[in-house]
Amino acid sequence: MKNKPSDKKKDLLKRYGYRFGEMRLRTMKHLGMDVIETERSGCYSRDIDGELILDALALQGVFNLGRRHPVIVEALKEGIETLDMGNNFFMSEQRLQLAEKLAETTPCDVDCFFLSSTGSEAVELALKVARGFTSRPGIISANECYHGVTGFALSTNSNPDYTAPFEPLIPGFSHVPFGSIDALSAEISDSTAAVIFEPMISEAGLLIPPADYFSEVRALCDAHDSLLIIDEVVTGLGRTGKFWGIEHFDGANPDIMISGKGLSAGMYPMAATMMTEEVADFFLAYPFSHYSSTGGSDLGCVVASAMIDIVNTPAFLEQVNLKGARLAAGYEELLNSYPETLASYGQIGLNTVLRLADDSGGFRMNHYLAEAGVFALLATNSTAAIRIQPPLIVSDSEIDLILNALDGAFGRMR
Ligand SMILES: Cc1ncc(COP(=O)(O)O)c(C=O)c1O
Repeated sequence: MKNKPSDKKKDLLKRYGYRFGEMRLRTMKHLGMDVIETERSGCYSRDIDGELILDALALQGVFNLGRRHPVIVEALKEGIETLDMGNNFFMSEQRLQLAEKLAETTPCDVDCFFLSSTGSEAVELALKVARGFTSRPGIISANECYHGVTGFALSTNSNPDYTAPFEPLIPGFSHVPFGSIDALSAEISDSTAAVIFEPMISEAGLLIPPADYFSEVRALCDAHDSLLIIDEVVTGLGRTGKFWGIEHFDGANPDIMISGKGLSAGMYPMAATMMTEEVADFFLAYPFSHYSSTGGSDLGCVVASAMIDIVNTPAFLEQVNLKGARLAAGYEELLNSYPETLASYGQIGLNTVLRLADDSGGFRMNHYLAEAGVFALLATNSTAAIRIQPPLIVSDSEIDLILNALDGAFGRMR
C-alpha cells in the first residue's frame, strides 16, 4: 500500500495479527499487501482506507470471473431461494448437473466424480484412490510442485519451507524434475501407484514441458500399470486459453483429474476429483472410505455450473488468448527496456510469469507493484518469478494498467 494506514486500519491490523498470526501480517506488510478488503467488483477491490487495488493474480484462478460476477451473483441468489448445502447422504440434481457438465468438458474419460471444497482435499482423494486402487505405496510428483497442504498432498511437496516442521511425511513419495522423461523413467517402478503432475507449473516460474512430454509420461505409466493424475486446480477452467491445461498436450489421457479454485467462481467453495469408471470402481469395495460433510454443496454446484456456462465457449476462450497475447506484447517491450532486470517471461493464455534476473527480486517487485496499486505475487517455489494471472474477464485497459505498473516497477528495480 502506498499511503500510511489510518488509525482505524492500524487498530484492525494489530487485532488481526493477534488473532491470525503476526508473521503472516508482517510478510504481507513487507510485500506491500497489508490490505483490509472492503468493496470488491470485477478486477478491483478496495482497501479500508479507500485505495483501489487492481487484481493481477485472481487468487491463482479462484477469481477467474473477477469479483461478484453478475451472472454468478444471480445464480446464487436464485439458488438460495430454495436450496441450501444439501444433505450429503442424499442425492441431488444440482450435484448431478455439475458432474455431467464437467464430464462433457474433459478431454478424456474421467466421468466419475467426488466433490469437495478445496483443491487440497481433491488431491488428497486422488492420491488415496490411487493407493487403494493399485494396492501400491509409490507416488511420484515434480520437484517443483505444489498440490496443497493436507497430509497426502503435502507429501508430494519437496520444498522444506512447507514440509520441514511436519516431518516425517507419509512414506512412499518421491520427486523428479518436471519435464524430464529420463528422470521419471529412472524413478517409476512396479510399486508406483501414481504419477501426479500439473500440465505446467506456474509456482516455479511457469515450467511448460515439451509437446510430447505427457504422451511419454502416459506410456511410462502404462508400462508399469501406474495411474496418471493431472492436477488442474490452477491450469483448468480457461486459464491457459483452453478449458483444461492438459488440452495443450496430446496423449496424456489421465486416469484422474483434479479441479478446484475457479470452480468456486469466487463465490462458493467447490473442488472435484474426476476419475475413470475403472478407477472409481475402487469405491465398490469401500463406498464410504472418503467423505465430506459440507463438500459438493448444492449451492456451490449451482454456482459452478453457471461458471462453466460462461467460460466453456469458444468466444470466451478466444478472448483469454487475445488478452494473453496483449500481455505478452507488453512483456516483449519490457524485455527490450529492462534487459538487465527482466530475464524472460512465460505466457500461455492468461497464465503468465515474469522471470527476473535477480534471484530474490520477486520480493521488491511485489512491493513496487503493490505501491502502484497492482496485486500480483512472486512464485512460491521461485523468488525470481512474479506471477501475473489476472481474472479472465480483465479488460484491455486494465491490462495496460498492469503493464504500466510493471514498467514503473522495473524502472525502480533498475
Ligand atoms: C496446483 C494446485 N493444486 C492444489 C492446490 C490446493 O488448493 P487449495 O488451496 O484450494 O487447497 C493448489 C493451491 O494453490 C494448487 O496450486
